[in-house]
Amino acid sequence: MNGNGSCYVARDVTLEKWTASYSYVLILSIFAEIKKRHMKRTKISEILAHPEEGSKVLIQGWVRAFRSKRFIQINDGSTIHTLQAVLDYEDFEEAMLKRVTTGAAIGVTGTLVASEGKGQSHEIQVESIEIIGDAAPEEVQKTVMQPKKHKLDFLREQAHLRFRTNTFGAVFRIRHGLSYAIHHFFHEKGFYNLHTPIITGSDAEGAGEMFRVTNFDLNNIPKNPEGEIDFSSDFFGKPVNLTVSGQLEAELGALALGQVYTFGPTFRAENSNTSRHLAEFWMIEPEVAFSDNDENMDLAESFLKYLCSFVLNNYPDDLAFLDDRDNKEQQQKPAKERDSMRLKERLEFVANNDFKRITYTEAIEVLQRSKPYKKKKFKYDVAWGKDLQSEHERYLVEKEFKRPVIITDYPASFKAFYMRQNEDDETVAAMDVLFPGIGEIVGGSQREERMDVLKRKCADFSVDEKEIWWYLDTRKFGTVPHAGFGLGFERMVMFATGMTNIRDVIPFPRTPLNAEF
Ligand code: 4AD
Ligand code: MG
Repeated sequence: MNGNGSCYVARDVTLEKWTASYSYVLILSIFAEIKKRHMKRTKISEILAHPEEGSKVLIQGWVRAFRSKRFIQINDGSTIHTLQAVLDYEDFEEAMLKRVTTGAAIGVTGTLVASEGKGQSHEIQVESIEIIGDAAPEEVQKTVMQPKKHKLDFLREQAHLRFRTNTFGAVFRIRHGLSYAIHHFFHEKGFYNLHTPIITGSDAEGAGEMFRVTNFDLNNIPKNPEGEIDFSSDFFGKPVNLTVSGQLEAELGALALGQVYTFGPTFRAENSNTSRHLAEFWMIEPEVAFSDNDENMDLAESFLKYLCSFVLNNYPDDLAFLDDRDNKEQQQKPAKERDSMRLKERLEFVANNDFKRITYTEAIEVLQRSKPYKKKKFKYDVAWGKDLQSEHERYLVEKEFKRPVIITDYPASFKAFYMRQNEDDETVAAMDVLFPGIGEIVGGSQREERMDVLKRKCADFSVDEKEIWWYLDTRKFGTVPHAGFGLGFERMVMFATGMTNIRDVIPFPRTPLNAEF
């Protein structure tokens, strides 16, 4: 190498370095601009789970509050937490900032930094703000979006906005989690999910509380010469209803696939305006071939325990919020009516303790020995052959056994035609799971697999054999003992969230005189 050469090289290198660094900066700034325009939004849940201090992020969500002309609280639904965006008021156009009001949808780009303020670990130092959707303050005034505590019945009237509240955000995230966990539980156990029909000609529960489905012109319903409605000219050529249960169809599936479950909407036109009844609710119905009522109870118990554990393990933040909420509600009640356990403790308790199993006959004896019975505190009488009322069920669960109770072997006349008749010919192999604060959460039974007994029960319960020939047929071709149950999904969500009115755990409740949204 000669000296000239190195000098040239050196000169060249300097020039190259200069041009390279200049183009580098240029390219970087072009990239930065492109990145800014095409930046992908990050969910607040992801930012909080893995905060990378110093990273540039874009979040999009709805403004919960804009305080002191400096702090914007934003929630995007991915978590109960808001992320705080911090800005210098003077750095932005005032007209734009005036549109950053509670309820407005905005996008914020900025740097994620550790927060010095109380109440949050991280915050965003705002570089730019985009108004995505305005919320007129005068409209917000009339809604649930005002930042204050609202009554749940007021929120129910604003079903389109109540999702924006912390309470309902938490409830519906947990509702989703439970739905996922249900499919997971059964899939892992080798069950097949069966989609049973929503429109059906049969009344599985025999309660006759069904919604009719028709496409007749209601002002001009065809009648036969006898003056009766002529269903043969209706859409399906016969009267049909919205289903009250997928069980009968699920039995057909189980008697070939072995283990199936349904998870679908069910409809009941019972006019009971209570905090535990809906006209449209979701039910999970597993059905297992070669199984009896004991195995059925084992399955129900492990299923309910699994669901409680799942919520505890996967929704700590939402649960912490609801636990606190539930605790405040409890404090409002007279001391006598307060729950001795907090929401999370109740879930842990169910997950970790065995359920009490007793027969209906034993339950009657326990109740007749109880203080409220002796002191005539029960409103309804307790006697063998009389149905258990919710005051009796609550006593057994909350006072006597202080844990979930499974009551088995009810008198046959209380229950549906398909339940298996016991040897005593008086009771059936039924089982109801009762939960604290909820009452009946699961109802199920072993099924009557003996054709002659089933036919007799059809006659006793006025079930027309001709209508359900397809169900009876399963008992002709390799009938086997089988069992199943139904879990009321909303009652499970109530238990998992501590909500005390069933209307507050379903996005759009359907109850008598109420189908607004
Ligand atoms: O006890 P039920 O009526 O049982 C059945 O429908 C059976 N076919 C189930 C089966 O064996 N496959 O209802 C089952 C559960 C109840 O325990 C309750 O949790 C819930 O469904 N449920 C309701 N939930 C909300 N609103 C209503 N109107 C309900 N009726 C029943
Ligand atoms: Mg029942």
